[in-house]
Amino acid sequence: MSLDSSRTAFARAQQSIGGGAGSGMRAAMRPHPLFVERASGAHVWDLDGDRYIDYVMGWGPLVLGHGNAHVLNAVSDAMKSMQLVGTGHLGEILAAEAVLEAVPHAERLLWSNTGTEAIQVALRLARAATGRQRVVKFIRCYHGWHDSVLASLSDTDSGQEAVPASKGQSPAALQDLITAGFNDVEQIAEILSAARDRDIAAVVLDPIMSNAGLEAARPEFLATIRRLCDEHGVVLIFDEVITGFRLARGGAAEYCGVQPDLSVFGKAMAGGFTQSAVAGRADLIDEVTRGVVHAGTFNSNPIAMAAVKATMEALAEGFVYERLEAAGLAFERTVGPALAAAPRPATLNRVGSLLQIIPSAGYGATNGSDPQWNRFVGSLLSEGVMITPSGKAFVSVAHTEEDFEVTAEAVGSALASD
Ligand SMILES: Cc1ncc(COP(=O)(O)O)c(C=O)c1O
Repeated sequence: MSLDSSRTAFARAQQSIGGGAGSGMRAAMRPHPLFVERASGAHVWDLDGDRYIDYVMGWGPLVLGHGNAHVLNAVSDAMKSMQLVGTGHLGEILAAEAVLEAVPHAERLLWSNTGTEAIQVALRLARAATGRQRVVKFIRCYHGWHDSVLASLSDTDSGQEAVPASKGQSPAALQDLITAGFNDVEQIAEILSAARDRDIAAVVLDPIMSNAGLEAARPEFLATIRRLCDEHGVVLIFDEVITGFRLARGGAAEYCGVQPDLSVFGKAMAGGFTQSAVAGRADLIDEVTRGVVHAGTFNSNPIAMAAVKATMEALAEGFVYERLEAAGLAFERTVGPALAAAPRPATLNRVGSLLQIIPSAGYGATNGSDPQWNRFVGSLLSEGVMITPSGKAFVSVAHTEEDFEVTAEAVGSALASD
C-alpha cells in the first residue's frame, strides 16, 4: 500500500484540525493516521481505494464488525421518526431494559455519551453515597482524559503519588487520587484497610488492564478488593469501557465472576454509535434523585438508543461470544508464531478477543518514543494491516482465518524488513 492519499490528507488535516486528527491517540498512529473512505466487516478502504485489515475497530467498539445490518437498520428507522428530543422517549427505556438484561448485577443505569463522562458520573455517585472524597486507581490504567483520573499511566510511576499524564492538567484535581500497583494484593489491602481514615469513597478498576500491556487481574486481587470494599464501605467501580459487551455479554464482571457496585460502559454498547452508561446498584444510581447532578444534552438520544437496543439484540444471538473467543484464539495461533519467529521476536498477550503485541528485547517502549517500534507498526500498515500504535488488536466476529493468515504474513514481512 502506498499510503500516499493518507499522507496528503494528514498534511491537509493539520491545517484545519489541531494535530491533524480527531483525537491525540489517532494522531499517534504510524507513520500517520490512515484516512478511510469506507468500512465494512473487518476491513477499511483508504482514499486510494486500498483495503486494510482493521484491528483498531474504532479503538474497540466494533465487536460486531463495521456495518452490522441489524444495528444500521434500527438506526435508520429511528432517525426517520426523530433525531433528538429534549425529553423522554420509549427508545431510552427499551435500551436501558436491554442493557440491564445483559448485565444481571445492574439494577438501574444512567446514560451519558463517552467513557470519560460516565467515569466522572460514577465517581460523583460514589462520593455522594459515602460522604468521602478520595478515589483509588491503579498505575498504568486509563479511565479517560478527565483531569481527576488522568494520572500515573507510565510503568515507571510508582508509590501512591498521582502523577499527571498531560500538560495543562490541574494538579489540584489529582489531590483526591490515590494510586496503587495493579495486581499488588498487599498494597491494596493496606490502603483499603484504612479506607475510613483515608477518606476513600471508591476504587476504580479495569479488571483486565486493557490499556497497558493487557494484564488480567488475579482472582485473589479482585476478591481482596471486593471483600475490603464491602468491609470498609467503599464503592467498587469496574471500568468496562473496553471489556463491556466484549469479553462476555455481562462484561468483565461476568468473565471474572466478581460483581462491582457500579459498572461503566461505553465503546461496544452502541455498536459504533456514541453512548455510554453507568449501571449498578439502584441505591447508588438513585443519588441523582438526592442532589447529584447528572446532565448531558445528547444523553439517551434516539439514534444512540436505537443503536444500543439493536446491539444488545445482536450480541444475544448467534453465539457471538463463542465466535469472539474462537477468533481471538485463531489470531493467537496464526499470528503468534510469526511474531515469535522474527529476528527480533515479539510475543502476544490475549484475553478473549483483546490482543496485545508485546515487543521483546530489541524494541523499546510502545508509547511512540521508540523509532524501531514505530517503524514496525508503520510497516504493518504498509502491508495492509492496521493495529493501534501501542500494538493492540481488537478482533471482531467479522474477522476470518484468511485475515489472520494475511496478518501473519504481514507481520513476518514487517519484522524481517526491520
Ligand atoms: C478503559 C477505558 N476507560 C475509559 C475510556 C474513556 O472512554 P472515552 O474515550 O469514550 O471517553 C477508555 C477509552 O479508551 C478506556 O479504554
